[in-house]
Amino acid sequence: MVSYNEIFENNKRWIAEKKASEADFFEKLVEGQDPDFLYIGCSDSRVTAEELMGVKPGEVFVHRNIANVVGNNDLNVMSVINYAVDYLKVKHIIVCGHYYCGGVKAALQSKDLGILNPWLRNIRDVYRFHKTELNLLEDADKRYRRLIELNVEEQCLNVIKTAVVQKSYLKNGYPTVHGWVFDMQTGALLDLNIDFEARLKEIQEVYNLSDSEPLSEQA
Ligand code: CO
Repeated sequence: MVSYNEIFENNKRWIAEKKASEADFFEKLVEGQDPDFLYIGCSDSRVTAEELMGVKPGEVFVHRNIANVVGNNDLNVMSVINYAVDYLKVKHIIVCGHYYCGGVKAALQSKDLGILNPWLRNIRDVYRFHKTELNLLEDADKRYRRLIELNVEEQCLNVIKTAVVQKSYLKNGYPTVHGWVFDMQTGALLDLNIDFEARLKEIQEVYNLSDSEPLSEQA
């Protein structure tokens, strides 16, 4: 485990390494950011967005919270999505969950968890939507893993429900929304291959906020 003071030593070493490989590294950072990706993931310390994607500073806009939830009345995540789409013009929005997610595990317990209750409600609701499928899985670990995947899918739908994503996609053809799961046992990033257009069409039946005809009605 790294100690508090070591962090500042690490930082000095990092500055030296960056300058050695790219002399104007920090001058470039100051010039601004132009990321193509918005990553919405879990706060879990083992799931490091930039490192597992292999991207450099400036390449991914990041939002993390417990169990990668995209709550409709969460001003934080909604501000991030709006800023990323409207100003940064990101091409891809990724919701990334991970196996062994403590947040999802907590939601699986029938227990009063205090201030976490309203947050975990988002995930308990996902369980309710998919109760039939989940209850057919006899193995608790399989049920846990499947709920992690279903939670990612549901949070992708929550991203697609936003006006800013619908309007930008119909006008510009981007962003598209992707659901991933990080499997920390192997290090693999799994793409759930969400069919963005099909999901957008479904969503628009009820949640069309694009100020134009739903995709299915267009020629
Ligand atoms: Co987690």
